[in-house]
Amino acid sequence: MRTELTFASLATIETELLAVTAGDSQTAKGPDAKPAPVLLIADKAVQAAAATVLASGEFKGGANETLLLHAPAGLKARRLLVVGLGKLGKATVHEVRNAAGTAVRFAKPRGIREVVLALPDREGLDAAQGARAAAEGALVGDFDADTYRSDRKDQSLHSFTLAAPGTADKAALEAAFREGTIVGESQNFARTLVNEPGNKLTPTVMGQRAAEMAQEVGLQWEVHSTDKLHELKMGAFWSVSQGSEEPPALIVLRYEPEGAAKDDEGPVNHPTDKDPSAGIPVIGLVGKGVTFDTGGISIKPADNMEKMKYDMAGGAAMLGAMRAIALLKPKVRVIGIVCATENMPDGKAQKPGDVQTAMSGKTIEIINTDAEGRLVLADGLAYARQLGATHLIDAATLTGACVVALGMVNAGSFSNDDATYQKFDAALKVSGEKFWRLPLGDEYMEMIKSDIGDIKNTGGRWGGAITAAEFLHAFAEETPWIHLDIAGVAWVEDSRPYIAKGPSGIAVRSILEWVRSY
Ligand code: BES
Ligand code: MN
Ligand code: ZN
Repeated sequence: MRTELTFASLATIETELLAVTAGDSQTAKGPDAKPAPVLLIADKAVQAAAATVLASGEFKGGANETLLLHAPAGLKARRLLVVGLGKLGKATVHEVRNAAGTAVRFAKPRGIREVVLALPDREGLDAAQGARAAAEGALVGDFDADTYRSDRKDQSLHSFTLAAPGTADKAALEAAFREGTIVGESQNFARTLVNEPGNKLTPTVMGQRAAEMAQEVGLQWEVHSTDKLHELKMGAFWSVSQGSEEPPALIVLRYEPEGAAKDDEGPVNHPTDKDPSAGIPVIGLVGKGVTFDTGGISIKPADNMEKMKYDMAGGAAMLGAMRAIALLKPKVRVIGIVCATENMPDGKAQKPGDVQTAMSGKTIEIINTDAEGRLVLADGLAYARQLGATHLIDAATLTGACVVALGMVNAGSFSNDDATYQKFDAALKVSGEKFWRLPLGDEYMEMIKSDIGDIKNTGGRWGGAITAAEFLHAFAEETPWIHLDIAGVAWVEDSRPYIAKGPSGIAVRSILEWVRSY
């Protein structure tokens, strides 16, 4: 799908579908309260075309509600689509993002191949942020998950155009719109990977896809396998891979900003630095890339096991974020690591009770082989620190317990450093993604002490998302670190007007925005 920006006046635009937004200005409650949709478009011709139907009361302006008019009088467009933004007082750029997705998903099944969305005119809605969000929402809306249907009709739009007549700062809007395009495409890159079934996207193939992407956008890359895991003494990562015929992939991507000080020119970052903020920050992104999670010897029940193809969504989010970073070029060094493996039961698979030695030297008692995500991340985090990361973020479909706690609405987030987390919180305001911070604490760490070794890989039923996070904390150690548990939100179970059922691409936008804050 092409994305374009126009500053032409709305009435003159020739297109199959012009979409405009309306908000609900109704504040009264009770039986007499009438819907009061208000167009967020200053254009007089559009207002005249929509006046009668808006007065009819058929359309309330609710979030993602749609109303279609054919051959709108006084406009060159063949159709006029009104999309609701919800309560006027609450409409933000996040509603604009969704409205763009809704317009695109309205068009797709109707054979409409081009959409023009008018940027809402409203005080308090920043035009540049709105332009960025609209591009993101349109691209996210254009994605469908039916890749392997032989009767698949490619319903992808040919073009999405944002119309912003009367824009004063055209250059700023252009830059923001281009940014949104990059972000939306990067989120879809992650979703394409997550959507692939386990037989198509093995760890090796995930490594190849990462390398191709890196080549395309100009990132340095390395993809290692079994020998490197042994060389680095990644006993935790390998303990998961050892039970599979498919070799693991240790994917390492590096982004170096132009003019970055070389290690011998500026302060060098070492994991042992007491004050990481004293040196040049190096951001480490670490993703769980379990391309299929059977549970291993602690095998999962058959019901819903097919969903475990998306157990690499954290890794895919890191690849999507690295893609966007390469194109948007923030002034900070970034290392992206994905630990890709299958978790299979096999003659060589690890067993409950086994003791493994992680790269950091810590010994891990395996209680449940299905708690494999934390094992691969333990070595991923240690490796990121060894490579010089001063600030860490990981993303993983880590625990069912997180889904119990937060449902499929919010993802879980954790951090050992408030200042670092505050930056992430600020990033969420831009990304519009929902994360809810859960606590860490020594009491939880107590729950995963092992009798035979240093730490065990499960802490029992209660507080399962937190004990998993504390397990990772033991490998992030003192380095400022954020952990994202995206188990409940990596897969959209029921389609919404602005996003298809399937992989969500969660965390790409927030991680990117957090990285850009350094
Ligand atoms: N990949 C799963 C977590 C998961 C659950 C992801 C639901 C997406 C949806 C993870 O590897 C896992 O199996 N976790 C176990 C941990 C337990 C054995 C301590 C879980 O949550 O049941
Ligand atoms: Mn598991
Ligand atoms: Zn898993």
